[in-house]
Amino acid sequence: MSEQKGADITWHDHLVTRDERWKLMGHKGCILWFTGLSACGKSTIANAVDAKLHGVGVHSFVLDGDNIRFGLNKDPKQLKEKQGYEEPTAKRFGLGFSAEDRAENIRRIGEVAKLFADAGVVTATAFISPYRADRDKVRAIMGAGGFIEVYVNASLATCEARDPKGLYKKARAGELKGFTGIDDPYEAPEKAELVLDSDNKGIDELSNEVIAYLKSSGYIS
Ligand code: ADX
Repeated sequence: MSEQKGADITWHDHLVTRDERWKLMGHKGCILWFTGLSACGKSTIANAVDAKLHGVGVHSFVLDGDNIRFGLNKDPKQLKEKQGYEEPTAKRFGLGFSAEDRAENIRRIGEVAKLFADAGVVTATAFISPYRADRDKVRAIMGAGGFIEVYVNASLATCEARDPKGLYKKARAGELKGFTGIDDPYEAPEKAELVLDSDNKGIDELSNEVIAYLKSSGYIS
């Protein structure tokens, strides 16, 4: 990409190309975009994949929804209390769970994941990312290949039975509004590269399916 211009900003090509970085890494970078309901297993599977890749010398990293919301994508309350932001600024930059905020959450993390992938890292992201359009935008910025949508398919009943953070219980009790799967939408992928059956299979088997995909698609050897 060269000669791109924004309002008063200009794109600078790097001296070291993406392919040269990937060559040095010994493998390609990519985004493994895990999506699914809360408690479907996204983070656990992403971390299992990460550990297995790390074990065989592949550079990998996990960007996890809950964790990112403690840092880069803090909510307005945290920005006010922990960063000392004034109320209007905290509201402007902080992210909650409205459709608009979720879209911005995914946009920011999509950009971050792309930077990791460009640097040659197999980047696993674990966000509910409930809206198809938001996920498709990340796919688009990655260009051909490089974006692997992994649908962690677990039924609402399974996720609700697991409920590790007690959030489904809270949502059912009406104490938490706009919770995905209860009173907020989840749009399942229609063309995911991988669909993981998290109702019936364990973490080891599912993480192996992801690794097998990376190998058969030529991302790692
Ligand atoms: S996303 O929708 O914007 O992709 P993200 O993956 O970052 O969500 O965060 C989801 C996590 O936030 C859940 O696993 C849960 O712990 C917590 N959470 C808090 N409120 C909500 C809510 N209203 N809907 C979904 N998850 C929520």
